[in-house]
Amino acid sequence: MSKQTDDFFKSIISHAKEYGFVFPSSEIYDGLSAVYDYGQLGVELKNNLKSYWWKSMVQLNDNIVGIDSAIFMHPTIWKASGHVDGFSDPMIDNKDSKKRYRADQLIEDKIDRYEKDGKTDKAAQLQKDLDEALSADDLPRLKAIIEEQNIVCPISGTKNWTDVRQFNLMFSTQMGAAADAAEQVYLRPETAQGIFVNFLNVQKTGRMKIPFGIAQIGKAFRNEVIARQFIIRMREFEQMELQFFVRPGSELEWYQKWKESRLKWHLALGADPAKYRYHDHVKLAHYANAAVDIEYDFPFGFKEVEGIHSRTDFDLKQHQEYSKKKMQYFDPEINQNYIPFVVETSVGLDRLFLTIFANALTFEDLSTEEKQDSRVVLKFHPAIAPVKAAVLPLTKKDGLPEKAREIMQRLKLDFNVQYDEKDAIGKRYRRQDAIGTPYCITVDHQTLEDNTVTIRHRDSMEQERVEISALKNIIGDRVSLTNLLEKLV
Ligand code: GAP
Repeated sequence: MSKQTDDFFKSIISHAKEYGFVFPSSEIYDGLSAVYDYGQLGVELKNNLKSYWWKSMVQLNDNIVGIDSAIFMHPTIWKASGHVDGFSDPMIDNKDSKKRYRADQLIEDKIDRYEKDGKTDKAAQLQKDLDEALSADDLPRLKAIIEEQNIVCPISGTKNWTDVRQFNLMFSTQMGAAADAAEQVYLRPETAQGIFVNFLNVQKTGRMKIPFGIAQIGKAFRNEVIARQFIIRMREFEQMELQFFVRPGSELEWYQKWKESRLKWHLALGADPAKYRYHDHVKLAHYANAAVDIEYDFPFGFKEVEGIHSRTDFDLKQHQEYSKKKMQYFDPEINQNYIPFVVETSVGLDRLFLTIFANALTFEDLSTEEKQDSRVVLKFHPAIAPVKAAVLPLTKKDGLPEKAREIMQRLKLDFNVQYDEKDAIGKRYRRQDAIGTPYCITVDHQTLEDNTVTIRHRDSMEQERVEISALKNIIGDRVSLTNLLEKLV
């Protein structure tokens, strides 16, 4: 990361904390690694993003419905899905520092260093060796590479490594009070399996016909060993997932459709299209016949925000085998029973939050010849901004606060609005800019005479005078989620 991008990333983290968007979890106890809390404005932004996703899936598509399945599920589900045996990272410990690392990550850091030093041939060769070892699941070879490359522990500086072992990423706990009878259960590492195991419940009770989809938003948990880059890699995070069930043979067509429509969904939020790219998977997971990531250009480089997978009939077939319950669908159009194929779209809400935040955070120099000035603005799309409008009496006297409160009472029925009378008006505008409020409504002496107020626009800083009675419609039109949704249809 260059110094400039490093500084920008630090400003994102500090701004998010200073204005109540994201706090380190359990901070008064020195925090809990890779766990974060969303503050009073963060939760509003997150809820607006969820609402945009949910409406775009469930409201705009008459063949998509939503569910909310439990976090705890029968442990055999994770056996069937492959998570018990295969959801792991290759880990290595340094015997001197007692620190644990992801073996592939240590090697990748070395590749980065070769690249930075201009040793591109060495970087390419090492990447090839790493890819070969990973695809062959060759753990001794990973250790050998670490030793050959003289990779030392960043803490102890020694090469005193253990063997490389697989480390499962699922958190487990015991269900039931009696210790001897307690059953080991897992905190779900993805929400998708809750959809698969409810496939027939929803299909039958909702009388769904293929093609149809089931959407879900919920928490997922992974015991990530390398937890870094703020809310990019967390141990507790939130996913918004769709499993779209289709007739076998039609899955790649649907995959293509979802690939395009998901990128369109991200772009509708207003970020620079150059910040997004597709990353097609060359090496596919054993259950997929096509896969792509939508990546965003964060200050530390392009990283996955959403994955789109054509998952074939793998999951339903596995659940049919392990549960001994038929997972078939009778297709009346072709008069056939089959296990549907699935196209999945899976976006991490926290990563999405970070794309929106990073894209919105703007430092503006407003200096003129006469004076130096600047402001920090969060330029969120008005439809997802946490606070839609602030009502500000110009002064604290002459009945202006009372009038402002009256306006606030009316607007709060429809929008999340803030009232602020402290400090000079310019300072209050800046405070609202910093939390991304798109409109500031100023109540002045003229308001008492003719029932008009000024609306100050966050991005242009221009002001317009409008009737109080028109406020609800003016703001409502601009902050409505419809503005985003209509770009999708
Ligand atoms: N059901 C498919 C699935 O879970 P994934 O690529 O492992 O696929 C999907 O995860 C999305 O979840 C990712 O694109 C990412 O946005 C988010 N995600 C995954 N692990 C995460 C973590 N540790 N912290 C935050 N978000 C994560």
